[in-house]
Amino acid sequence: MFYSAIRKVLFQFDAETIHELTIKGLKSTGSTPLKAIYQQNVPDKPVEVMGINFPNLVGLAAGLDKNGECINAFAAIGFGFIEIGTITPRPQPGNDKPRIFRLEKANAIINRMGFNNKGVDYLIDQVRQANFKGVLGINIGKNKDTPDENAKDDYIHCMRKVYDYATYITVNISSPNTPGLRSLQYGDALNELLAALKVEQKLLAEQYGKYVPVAVKIAPDLTQEEVKSIAKSLIDNNIDGVIATNTTLSRQGVENLEHGNEQGGLSGEPVKDKSTQVISILSTALAGKLPIIGVGGIASGADAKEKIAAGASLVQVYTGFIYQGPSLVKDIVKAL
Ligand SMILES: Cc1cc2nc3c(=O)[nH]c(=O)nc-3n(C[C@H](O)[C@H](O)[C@H](O)COP(=O)(O)O)c2cc1C
Repeated sequence: MFYSAIRKVLFQFDAETIHELTIKGLKSTGSTPLKAIYQQNVPDKPVEVMGINFPNLVGLAAGLDKNGECINAFAAIGFGFIEIGTITPRPQPGNDKPRIFRLEKANAIINRMGFNNKGVDYLIDQVRQANFKGVLGINIGKNKDTPDENAKDDYIHCMRKVYDYATYITVNISSPNTPGLRSLQYGDALNELLAALKVEQKLLAEQYGKYVPVAVKIAPDLTQEEVKSIAKSLIDNNIDGVIATNTTLSRQGVENLEHGNEQGGLSGEPVKDKSTQVISILSTALAGKLPIIGVGGIASGADAKEKIAAGASLVQVYTGFIYQGPSLVKDIVKAL
């Protein structure tokens, strides 16, 4: 009730303006008594995945807190884990505005942000300041102006920087808004990247005396064969987890809606079944060898249950959280 009234006001304004104001509000209140405005008691439903103990199964998906500025606020909301990023080695402005569009009739968003972020050093400062003791995923990517053939260097640079601060690291090779990025999901390019990250992870594990799991985030726009081939690469390279999925390039079901043909990645209800399908294919192909984190169109406990039934061990939300507010986290945890 409370959030739906606030949402009515918020949705009067441009999506990115509201996003920025919300981030500012959460950042400035997350470590103060004012966090009581959004703080919730979410029941403990502990689960162990990738060797990590999660207090509950519901995580914040990457891209909402790209720079890790609101970690304590999202912790107060009751997320079982928080994934910050995508972060790149150097700060970059992202694409021209406008670049986020709400499609209210479809409970969806189209975004073409293009990894706008303040760079990995800034993010680490934020993580240090937050002094958060919960499960923190750090999602890493490449700068737009790094040539595709050097993409690996950007991931390794970020991995080294974030290793000591992350509970797990997500390798994002599925954003549709960085040209060439999704080509890293296929064949030799994928195997070479994963092998290099694994070598680095081993070195860092020795250096820091702790093992930080690495998960790979994939797109929903893959054929069954492509998903199976990715699953094989993940197993062959001993990757620790997979996050399925990112946003879709499909416009099925939204073609005739206002903003339905904007360029970028579509999220929310229209991506729900596509991502569940990818999870099902992955689940069969992986045969339990590595866990799946399910994300895409979750807006209720029932939606989250579908992802778990398809083979996910944990879930994440983004668009559903924008539309439903903090109570979504509690609703899902209670339902599962
Ligand atoms: C505005 C916006 C920005 C996003 N930025 C990122 C990002 O930086 N990195 C990433 O891995 N995913 C990003 N995502 C994708 C989400 O993390 C999620 O995978 C996707 O939106 C599907 O989940 P949903 O339907 O719950 O939103 C973004 C999504 C949105 C809507």
